[in-house]
Amino acid sequence: MSHANIHKDFPVLFTEQEIAHRTAEIGRQIDHDYQGKSVVLVGVLKGAAIFLADLSRRITIDCTFDFVAVSSYGKGQKTSGAVKMIKDLDQPIEGKNIIIVEDILDTGLTLCFLRSLFEQHKPCSMRIAALLDKPSRRLEKIEADYVGFKIPNHFVVGYGMDYAERFRNVPDIRLMPPGYPELH
Ligand code: IMP
Repeated sequence: MSHANIHKDFPVLFTEQEIAHRTAEIGRQIDHDYQGKSVVLVGVLKGAAIFLADLSRRITIDCTFDFVAVSSYGKGQKTSGAVKMIKDLDQPIEGKNIIIVEDILDTGLTLCFLRSLFEQHKPCSMRIAALLDKPSRRLEKIEADYVGFKIPNHFVVGYGMDYAERFRNVPDIRLMPPGYPELH
């Protein structure tokens, strides 16, 4: 069954323009904070791919990309609690300035896991850029250094974020109606 266009009924939380505007502001902040330095943007697949693509084009300092993949949510809206590395870094980060780029900081389990793992590789510095922050859901003590928008406890899709792998290609960020049926 095709799920094309069903998101049209989901309410828009942030428009493409709002996201672009905020992303440009974060890019300017990063340029300011890392003047004369190089930075490695470490995207957390798959959700952060679109944010990283757009944010990186609003950064003018010397930068390279790397990506990791971790297991977080299954097919639905609930987290399993356990975080597992599925794809590791390609390049060593020792002595580098890294910015972990994430779509949503939710319970904090994913970023806590990555932060302690990366710390063992002795980067020169490590910061976190999260497009969305759901502070009310936090289980771990962790904050992002750069936050696009703080949001209440709603499940969202679009702009890289999925429900059962769908809706990542929706250009804006939309609220997933509660009790939405499982997709296959
Ligand atoms: P955390 O480990 O609970 O902080 O979860 C972070 C990950 O859960 C994010 O990178 C997303 O992939 C996923 N996630 C959390 N909330 C949402 C949501 O509202 N929509 C889609 N994915 C979400």
